Amino acid sequence: MTATTVFADECAAPRPGSRTPTLRRYVMCPPEHFAVEYVINPWMDPDAPLDTALAMRQWEELKRTYERLGHTVQVVPPQPGLPDMVFAANSGTVVGSRVLGARFRAEQRAAEAEHFRRWFAGRGYREVVMPSRINEAEGDFAWTGELLLAGTGFRTDPEAHAEAQEVLGVPVISLRLVDPRYYHLDTALFVLEQGERPQIAYYPEAFSAGSRRVLERLFPDAVLADAADAACLGLNGVSDGRNVVLPLEATGLAERLRSRGYEPIHVDVSELRKSGGGPKCCTMELHR
Ligand code: ARG
Repeated sequence: MTATTVFADECAAPRPGSRTPTLRRYVMCPPEHFAVEYVINPWMDPDAPLDTALAMRQWEELKRTYERLGHTVQVVPPQPGLPDMVFAANSGTVVGSRVLGARFRAEQRAAEAEHFRRWFAGRGYREVVMPSRINEAEGDFAWTGELLLAGTGFRTDPEAHAEAQEVLGVPVISLRLVDPRYYHLDTALFVLEQGERPQIAYYPEAFSAGSRRVLERLFPDAVLADAADAACLGLNGVSDGRNVVLPLEATGLAERLRSRGYEPIHVDVSELRKSGGGPKCCTMELHR
């Protein structure tokens, strides 16, 4: 009998693109009324030139990218007067049949929450709960398949973490953000692979010392991003377990992901970034 010996370290370094994707269900909202009219994060400058037609083309390309990968994209109708509604990730956290809606910190975005609530109700979701605390949904919540990683410090209230745990019935891990440029968890961390042994990428400097230790404990072999990766909103990625949709400029992070067996796919989000958003901000996932 001939035996093939597989060494442990061979398993640890998968070939680029060798991972298995799973099909995802996304919700997006076209940037029809997109604008930078107010300042609620350090990326936003109402005086800087903005090409709204280009923003639409970039959004369409992002949507096509998901569809090409086999994912489903449902579209929520955009509303006039809500220039940030394109950032669909901020309007709901969905795990299974349970939906936890949003409650925005900024008055200017408050009305988005109700449009999404109605959209969910119209889709037959019966367990839609609107939060009582400030809760910017997947902007600050990342589902690993086992745990809900939850950011606070700039937007979502820490009490909203306990509320999410209660409503969704999943264990929540609170993490503190400390850099105003990385005001939402999804600007500093994203899940590469869901499941029993989830994998994440994150930018350590965006977190408090204690939260960094938590991340090191939970994810000892996470992909660590550097300042350049973070500065183009490279951590605002969307992964299906194999393909990782990233901003064009996140080249260093892409290389590291490739060496871990992921397949980076770059998209141009230059216009959306002027509001502090990237691929993930535009994408809410309906987790199974
Ligand atoms: N201008 C928006 C805000 O500051 C951008 C939101 C980006 N979304 C996100 N998930 N990080 O609220």
